[in-house]
Amino acid sequence: MQPAKKEAHLFVCGQCGFESRKWLGRCPDCGAWDSLTEQRGQSTGRSVRKTATAHPLSGAVEEESARLLTNINEMDRVLGGGIVPGSLVLIGGDPGIGKSTLILQLLASLAGQGRSTLYVTGEESVRQIRMRAGRLNIHEEAISVSTENCVEAIVDLALEMRPALLAVDSIQTVYSEEVGSAPGSVTQVREATARLLTLAKANHLPILLVGHVTKDGAIAGPRVLEHMVDTVLYFEGDRGQIFRILRTVKNRFGSTNEIGVFEMKESGLAGVDNPSALFLAERPVNVPGSVVLPCVEGTRPILVEVQALVSHSSLGTARRTAIGADPQRLALLTAVLEKKLGVTLFDHDIFLNIAGGIRIVEPALDLGVVAALLSSFLEKPIDASTVVCGEVGLAGEVRAVGQMEMRLREAGRLGFTTFLMPESSCRQLQKKVGTDIRILAIRTVAELAERLFNG
Ligand code: TYD
Ligand code: MG
Repeated sequence: MQPAKKEAHLFVCGQCGFESRKWLGRCPDCGAWDSLTEQRGQSTGRSVRKTATAHPLSGAVEEESARLLTNINEMDRVLGGGIVPGSLVLIGGDPGIGKSTLILQLLASLAGQGRSTLYVTGEESVRQIRMRAGRLNIHEEAISVSTENCVEAIVDLALEMRPALLAVDSIQTVYSEEVGSAPGSVTQVREATARLLTLAKANHLPILLVGHVTKDGAIAGPRVLEHMVDTVLYFEGDRGQIFRILRTVKNRFGSTNEIGVFEMKESGLAGVDNPSALFLAERPVNVPGSVVLPCVEGTRPILVEVQALVSHSSLGTARRTAIGADPQRLALLTAVLEKKLGVTLFDHDIFLNIAGGIRIVEPALDLGVVAALLSSFLEKPIDASTVVCGEVGLAGEVRAVGQMEMRLREAGRLGFTTFLMPESSCRQLQKKVGTDIRILAIRTVAELAERLFNG
């Protein structure tokens, strides 16, 4: 007699999709606490035997020109030059940031090129979509809308309609009939994505997925999703601001760190060709604590305003806040200023902000942070036609950063005339840019302070 089969338990981490046979308080994979929940239904580790096939490495490849251009410049840029056939693109972002608007505009642009598209939404009714389309002035016959939630039905519908592009808004609302757990759970999202992945690869059908973002900024539930898709884009920005930034965080077919800048208008999203001008539009002139810095995002130079407010603290522990910049970096630069310039900051609150809601991660920001902090601390404004750029080391030395010529040209284009930069970066540059911009070499933070406030 055979022993009765005991039903195996399966616990899945809601953050990263880690699977375990027993419950654990903390996920050993991603370290999240209390994130494992029991899943009913089968594990995705399939055991069905299949025949494998192999192909020679050499062979005809589809040309770059096969990419589907959306004709929305900012979108094509972040995608690395259009959508690759058969690719799976994930767009993540906070609720209300404009993901559905962006997708609808993209589909309209494709419809304008005579391509039919399928928009599947589990978030809104057809009526709501029509209302949004009306607001965006989109009346394309070539866009079909479905409110189907079942992934098997969506796959069938796509195979029947053969659209040039399928958009699924959002992946968290889609479920597979073959998985027992609730829609939105990790197993469901992963299974649904796997189905769509197969559909995309087998039929050369590009698919756009919208993914919700959790409070801490990751795509809801499965980070696993990010590994499965070809391209991950984040749509970010402050809902109170009009700027929206579409950022590539993963791209199998192009560079990452590329950004697209949009402006949310009454009639939808409009690409911004000249982001520097936009980010500097409201810059206060001759006010302490503000400096302009040319940063490079992907292949694109953007001038941003770095703002600092340093004020005497009435509390026991001074506050340190960084918006749009790394707080650790701010702490480090504050320490360098205390040690190298002897400024007393421990009893001062420090607030740092990159104006316009943009986030800068490159080290070239350092010199801007230092300049803004000093300017606010000393209550001395920085000359309005000056830009600064460079990395700062722990010894207070100013280090070289890349793409200086690009930064310089962008600054020149917007009418800046003085450029403070690391000495090692500037040897060849003055000849290249002519006499319109004065380049000043800076070796240490002490030299920077000297140039800006005593020179
Ligand atoms: P939506 O695309 O629904 O966001 P998501 O899909 O990311 O949740 O955008 C919602 C916000 O955008 C809403 O607050 C209104 C604003 N909006 C405009 O300002 N102009 C427009 O033309 C549209 C369609 C939306
Ligand atoms: Mg939406």
